[in-house]
Amino acid sequence: MMRFGERLRMTVFGSSHGPEVGVEIDGVPAGVIVDVPAIQRQLDRRRPVGRRLATRRQEEDRLEIDSGLVDGISDGRILRAHVANADIRRAPYDRLGDVPRPGHADFPARVRYGPEADLSGGGIFSGRMTVGLVIAGALARGLLAARGIDVVAFTRSIGPVDARVPAEATPAELRALAARSEVEAPDPAAAAAMEAAIQEARRDGDSLGGVIEVRGYGLPVGLGEPFFDSVESEIAHAFFSVPAVKGVEFGAGFAAARMRGSEHNDPFAWIDGRVQTLSNHAGGILGGLTTGMPVVVRAAVKPTSSIAKPQRSVDLAAHRDTTVTVTGRHDPCIVPRAVGVLENVTAFVLADLALRGGFLP
Ligand SMILES: Cc1cc2nc3c(=O)[nH]c(=O)nc-3n(C[C@H](O)[C@H](O)[C@H](O)COP(=O)(O)O)c2cc1C
Repeated sequence: MMRFGERLRMTVFGSSHGPEVGVEIDGVPAGVIVDVPAIQRQLDRRRPVGRRLATRRQEEDRLEIDSGLVDGISDGRILRAHVANADIRRAPYDRLGDVPRPGHADFPARVRYGPEADLSGGGIFSGRMTVGLVIAGALARGLLAARGIDVVAFTRSIGPVDARVPAEATPAELRALAARSEVEAPDPAAAAAMEAAIQEARRDGDSLGGVIEVRGYGLPVGLGEPFFDSVESEIAHAFFSVPAVKGVEFGAGFAAARMRGSEHNDPFAWIDGRVQTLSNHAGGILGGLTTGMPVVVRAAVKPTSSIAKPQRSVDLAAHRDTTVTVTGRHDPCIVPRAVGVLENVTAFVLADLALRGGFLP
């Protein structure tokens, strides 16, 4: 299923080593001024180029809008956008058809789709598919901004290194702090330690994972749809579509299981003329609806599966055990590139729910 969303719908297309990757977005109201350079800036955040720590695959990722815009204004038709895949090297993937990489999608994909499936570069299981998510989310954040809703994401941890996040920081301050480091962590000391940890893993032919936090600010009370389409369900659904995301929690998340009610409950108070809570263990969501407090969600990103170290695998054609050493260009840590992806995905979900709930025109 390559489609997501209800009132605002995206269909992602393409594959890692095909000619292009992109998205069709349906449900954008006519007459919206679309900030194309802002979408390009969001795409630039997920590009490996310029990041010392990332894969050396070079992609320009220049946004092309194929339909749905006239003079920068949406015309109510399907908005189709893509970027060309420029830097494609197939050779490192040739053997993958028979010898699946441990931790990647190769094995179940090969069984499900057969040996003809194009798994070069990960095919549709590649991180490149997130280009479409970023375009759709970046467009959606324009809709949210008009209503004063902002979404910001940053790196919470990489490997064993935790960032200390300033408690009272505004979204703009968090964004500025995170943007100062290659790893997008809002804590300069931790960011340096994270970079060192990634370099060390790379030297070992290995990889690291981490945790990304996304916050939604300025949300109205009551956004979200009952039961199956709660804010948590929709965000988690979208997050788990992003390759390498293996866990999602809201507010206190799994730590809530160890708290007492008296500790976990967020007391209500009138502050600045509106009902707020004195803590935010709920992560801004009660009963699947927003409370008006910041929505706080964290995602666990696993360590990159494609590592240079030899690993045990199987030869599916010869029916025997073997070892695999993954070549090709892979990020030793996906986390920094996934920060912008999850930020934009969250914006997409919130914009869809806002349209569904009548919070946006
Ligand atoms: C932005 C981004 C870049 C990624 N780059 C790589 C990569 O270079 N090498 C790799 O093995 N996996 C990479 N992945 C993760 C794989 O696509 C993913 O682990 C694989 O499809 C298996 O899916 P799963 O981890 O969700 O189970 C990337 C993911 C994202 C979001």
